[in-house]
Amino acid sequence: MPPCWTLSRGIVLTFPGFEQYDMLRIRVLHGPNLNLLGTREQLIYGTMSLDALDSAITKLAKELAVKVDLRQSNSEGELVTWIQEARTGYDGIIINPAAYTHTSIAIRDAIAAVGLPTVEVHLSNIHQREEFRHRSYVAGVVLGQIAGLGPTGYLLALRGLHDLLTASRRRTKTATPAVSRRTAKGTT
Ligand code: DQA
Repeated sequence: MPPCWTLSRGIVLTFPGFEQYDMLRIRVLHGPNLNLLGTREQLIYGTMSLDALDSAITKLAKELAVKVDLRQSNSEGELVTWIQEARTGYDGIIINPAAYTHTSIAIRDAIAAVGLPTVEVHLSNIHQREEFRHRSYVAGVVLGQIAGLGPTGYLLALRGLHDLLTASRRRTKTATPAVSRRTAKGTT
């Protein structure tokens, strides 16, 4: 909700220019080979293309008034850079690191360094698959992991991050600073 002022007679002034600033911003990162979704190992990953998945995420983001930035890369370094960049201007990250989940200390370190609430998503249930997929290097530094629910996992991650971030913003806004509380009591 953009900043607004209610004048007398119920006239509400809103400032749409502030909307972008006030909106939650979430970066969604897809790792290697996810550009091949829809054609890649359909029995495991389903038939939805990455474009269709991104459209579904964008549609939900609109409903939730969240600004999403969606990116896919086959390169570990590029994913690390995008995680680092999210430090400024983003409130949270959703990431499917794909095969890098099981190998990348660099991606884990980037998530830990940035400190943004991050949800790890996997289309398949990595814990039911080959043993080498059971270990996630990022699991220890993320808020939570969703695995095995297909594209719905991304939508749940978005909804979950939205709800948590909105609640935490609300708490920050309603918390009365200690100084004002003392001032209000007339003790300073
Ligand atoms: C994946 C699972 C990984 O093990 C695999 O390497 C992927 C996709 C998933 O979404 O299920 O590429 O992250």
